[in-house]
Amino acid sequence: MIESDVDLSARNTLRLTARASRYVAVHDPAELSGLCADPELAALPWHVLGGGSNLVLPDVVDGLTLQVEIKGRRLVGEDEHAVYVAAGGGEPWHDFVMWTLAQGWGGLENLALIPGCVGAAPVQNIGAYGVEVKDTLFELSAYRLDGGAKRVFSSADCRFAYRDSVFKQEEAGRWLIAEVVFRLPKRPDLHTNYGDIDAELVNAGLPRTPAGVAQAVINVRQRKLPDPAVIGNAGSFFKNPVVPAAQRDALVAQHPQLVSYLMPGEHYKLAAGWLIEQAGWKGRRLGPVGMYEKQALVLVNHGGAQRADVAALTAAVQADVMARFGVQIEPEPVWW
Ligand code: EPU
Repeated sequence: MIESDVDLSARNTLRLTARASRYVAVHDPAELSGLCADPELAALPWHVLGGGSNLVLPDVVDGLTLQVEIKGRRLVGEDEHAVYVAAGGGEPWHDFVMWTLAQGWGGLENLALIPGCVGAAPVQNIGAYGVEVKDTLFELSAYRLDGGAKRVFSSADCRFAYRDSVFKQEEAGRWLIAEVVFRLPKRPDLHTNYGDIDAELVNAGLPRTPAGVAQAVINVRQRKLPDPAVIGNAGSFFKNPVVPAAQRDALVAQHPQLVSYLMPGEHYKLAAGWLIEQAGWKGRRLGPVGMYEKQALVLVNHGGAQRADVAALTAAVQADVMARFGVQIEPEPVWW
């Protein structure tokens, strides 16, 4: 059923004030062909909404907003080394991760407590604590928004990179991701040496198992990151910028405390949270929005914000980081 003028403020985790001109919930990919066959709808711009956790919405979303409600999770195959597990695009990501762990399948534990849904995870190649969704994604099924044709994308087809995929590049806005299949190793390697995970395992007395690591990740995230149910946010709002080694070395000479990580190919990833904090924005507000007091990389909505408020703060933070460090930082969320 297609609805008109639907309030989206509770359907985006930044809680921006926004309304959808037309809105429809999709529970089954088969419903898409019906929508595609309607010439009046087909003439509109379409937007696919998942958990709304990586989005900056305009005050009015023109055209048709499709809310993905495709559910289901199941074992689809198994070999000597791995299980293959499928999940509907509309499954809440964290619930799916916890379900795989309850079945005894590791591999997704570092990605616990990331907001959003399964279908959105590959779009920006979600990642945390040294693991990205690309590490276990086997393939996904997607449907073209124009015409409804189905296509299976292998992991290579997705062209994953840091917080990036083909769905943010040349295929942006063209597909509804209906189902994702993960290949979860039967003997997963634990990744615990990134950030505070090793320390948390020891301090909280957690076992060195996938479920133990998931709990450590949950504890660390709950301490550092604001809960979108309490204060509107979209997780990390800026990407960590990647710069040539020479530029990083020059910056370290001026700022010995600079936090950076070596990347392949003579490049370094800089901690944008550190740059933003040094530029004076940690805990500082501009209108109804601000950078979070405990993690400067997270933009928070203190109440009643609209897209223009987010745009103003984005520009102000970018300008100050540029003036102080000569580094351009880019927002991570998708702007509709
Ligand atoms: N830092 C500061 N000040 C701050 C924030 C961070 O100095 O206000 C410093 C920290 O002390 C640390 C470094 O910056 O030395 C990195 O901080 P942190 O480990 O918290 O990670 P991050 O780079 O800020 C990234 C991801 C997060 C992910 C964490 C943990 C991006 C854009 N963000 O954040 O992802 O949870 O690593 O792996 O890559 C998300 O994308 O929404 C997200 C939360």
